[in-house]
Amino acid sequence: MQTMQHIAFLGLGAMGARMAAHLVKAGYAVTVWNRDPAKAAPLQHSGAALAATPREAAQGADIVISMVTDDTAARNVWMDAQTGAAAGLQPGAVAIECSTVTPGWVRQLADEVLRRGAQLLDAPVVGSRPQADAAQLIFMVGGDGPTLAQVRPVLSTLAAKVLHVGEVGQGAVLKLAVNALFAEQLHSVAELLGFLTRNGFAADQAADLLAEFPIVAAPIAGAARMMAAGNTAPLFTIDLIEKDLRYLLEVAQASGAELPGATAARTAFQRAQRMGLGVSNVTAVAAVLG
Ligand SMILES: NC(=O)c1ccc[n+]([C@@H]2O[C@H](COP(=O)([O-])OP(=O)(O)OC[C@H]3O[C@@H](n4cnc5c(N)ncnc54)[C@H](OP(=O)(O)O)[C@@H]3O)[C@@H](O)[C@H]2O)c1
Repeated sequence: MQTMQHIAFLGLGAMGARMAAHLVKAGYAVTVWNRDPAKAAPLQHSGAALAATPREAAQGADIVISMVTDDTAARNVWMDAQTGAAAGLQPGAVAIECSTVTPGWVRQLADEVLRRGAQLLDAPVVGSRPQADAAQLIFMVGGDGPTLAQVRPVLSTLAAKVLHVGEVGQGAVLKLAVNALFAEQLHSVAELLGFLTRNGFAADQAADLLAEFPIVAAPIAGAARMMAAGNTAPLFTIDLIEKDLRYLLEVAQASGAELPGATAARTAFQRAQRMGLGVSNVTAVAAVLG
């Protein structure tokens, strides 16, 4: 098997910067690119090279990882006619799309990557900034088994689990479903905290009591306590979760799945956006329903 050493990392936002830092620390030769190059400075200090474009970063890389906002950002990073990473892929390289994007887009990207003699894995992640810091992300990987086997050691550097969930696109489908489960629970907790505080409980007391019940998983209990404390410091933003629900509902509509719960949750996150809370943490949804 080819030894994978040279990694290009595209997108150094909250998640990408943390993931790239672990790869540098693990001893891989990492070339980074970010639209705003200032965000690359800490990684450069720890030994990463900075490329001027995604295409330049991809040239000569064994693995090219992208971690950007959405379909639009990912299309720009991979497919731009002048600067896109796809054109820089060397034959045999593995492209990995970690951004939360639509299954339709990753399948299209997979065709493009294949045409260039490389392979694509779609590998979105569950886990937020603390899990990225702790290298405890969960990857949901779509793509072929042998390609995943080639890059599994690299993903494992960042992960608590690397799950192979099916063909390219299935990672994205599962990721949207898992995030909807999170969004719907946040929505429920926000509305029930509102109910409890209108009926005799203090907010912190209500959050602590909800955490006592086994039906409330630890991350949801944590979110309830953040809501009760008015803590909206960004970990995972309202804008990102609203985008995920929008993508989910597009896929649902195309496949004939009915998702009334996700639709209601999205309405609440959209209301939060209209209140100017898009860049706040998802827990800010309590301001809509509290
Ligand atoms: N935060 C979380 O808890 C979390 C958890 C799991 C999955 N995710 C997913 O991970 C991805 C990244 O999330 P994040 O929290 O790291 O977001 P973020 O901090 O907002 O970073 C977004 C990144 O995308 C880049 N970008 C945005 N638009 C672009 C464009 N048009 N062209 C090129 N680059 C562009 C940004 O570049 P600039 O720096 O130049 O703006 C930045 O590097 C998203 O798909 C998100 O849904 C997030």
